[in-house]
Amino acid sequence: MTLKASTGSPFARILSVGSAVPSRVIDNDYLCQFIDSSDEWITQRTGIKERRWVGEGENIETLSITAATSAIERSGIAPEDIDAVIVSTISHYEQTPALAPKLAHLLGLGDAAAYDISAACAGFSYGVAQAEALVRSGQARYVLLIAGETISDITNMTDRGTAFLFGDGAGAVVIGPSEVNGIGPVVWGSDGGQFDAIRMSHDIAGGVKAGEFPTITMDGQAVFKWATSHIAQATRRCLDEAGITPDELDVFIPHQANNRITDTLLRYLKLPEKVVVARTIQHLGNNSAATIPMAMDALLTSGEAKSGQTALIIGFGAGLVYSGQVITLP
Ligand code: UT7
Repeated sequence: MTLKASTGSPFARILSVGSAVPSRVIDNDYLCQFIDSSDEWITQRTGIKERRWVGEGENIETLSITAATSAIERSGIAPEDIDAVIVSTISHYEQTPALAPKLAHLLGLGDAAAYDISAACAGFSYGVAQAEALVRSGQARYVLLIAGETISDITNMTDRGTAFLFGDGAGAVVIGPSEVNGIGPVVWGSDGGQFDAIRMSHDIAGGVKAGEFPTITMDGQAVFKWATSHIAQATRRCLDEAGITPDELDVFIPHQANNRITDTLLRYLKLPEKVVVARTIQHLGNNSAATIPMAMDALLTSGEAKSGQTALIIGFGAGLVYSGQVITLP
């Protein structure tokens, strides 16, 4: 018996982006009450001056809903045309169920397929790859991809290696069919040999009491070394796979983990001066999966980047995992 197969659009693109920035501003001096550090060290070693944490009435759901509502409105499509909701997060409290069905319900998206992915700081790019594949295969007409994080909930305020790094926030995009291609081939991978480099688990956190939630631990130097070697090569492969040269790029949105990592990637790629580079880390810190869509929205809203421009995105983090692709900005 021959079964019918779904058929989709030959191409896909990001139609729109939205984001949510929490209200509570946490500067370096505030954190230095809890760790032996200084505003000067954090600024010089990472580029971070302040980050946003959730305040009164804000949580991963409210941030995600705000970002998603904005993305859906800006896409101009009817909510009922969204067939799938993918949520990328590492800070949703429940092992199961996933956050995605709840968000789909709160957004009034009917019985859209809904699931979470756990690819940490690479999660947005992983999600773009999946959404693109769903649209092109005909498994979904439109996909809502949300990256939502409240890393402040899983940060050990007294851990000198991580307390200063992370911020909360959410970003969302709608991905749908297109007559011209707006999403280049994904370049992604993993190195489970470095499974321990960034973790959130009871055994590593040690001494976690029943009822307490585990916090993030990180071997910063190991991740830094990997990011500045392996990820640098991956950025070049993203351009090659998309068939463009560094000169043809307009915008570079790397994961905002450390400005020194971004500087190394820039040197490696030899990007021309005209390329706009995301530096949201200064005011938002590292927002894990939400970093790239938040930065994308910020650049478009400020006018530094323009709709239709060609951008390279790349994320990397716990796993270790990485993922990137060239996209056309919505
Ligand atoms: O988003 C997920 C992916 N994550 C990343 O990509 C993170 C990658 N790693 C990093 O960004 C950096 O490793 C960190 C920012 C986390 C740390 O910076 P670093 O330059 O690698 O610091 P280090 O651990 O090599 O320590 C350098 C020095 C040491 O002092 P001595 O031995 O040179 O005197 C540390 O004791 O800095 C000291 N140090 C600090 N000083 C003030 C380490 N942490 C701190 C601190 N404040 N918080």
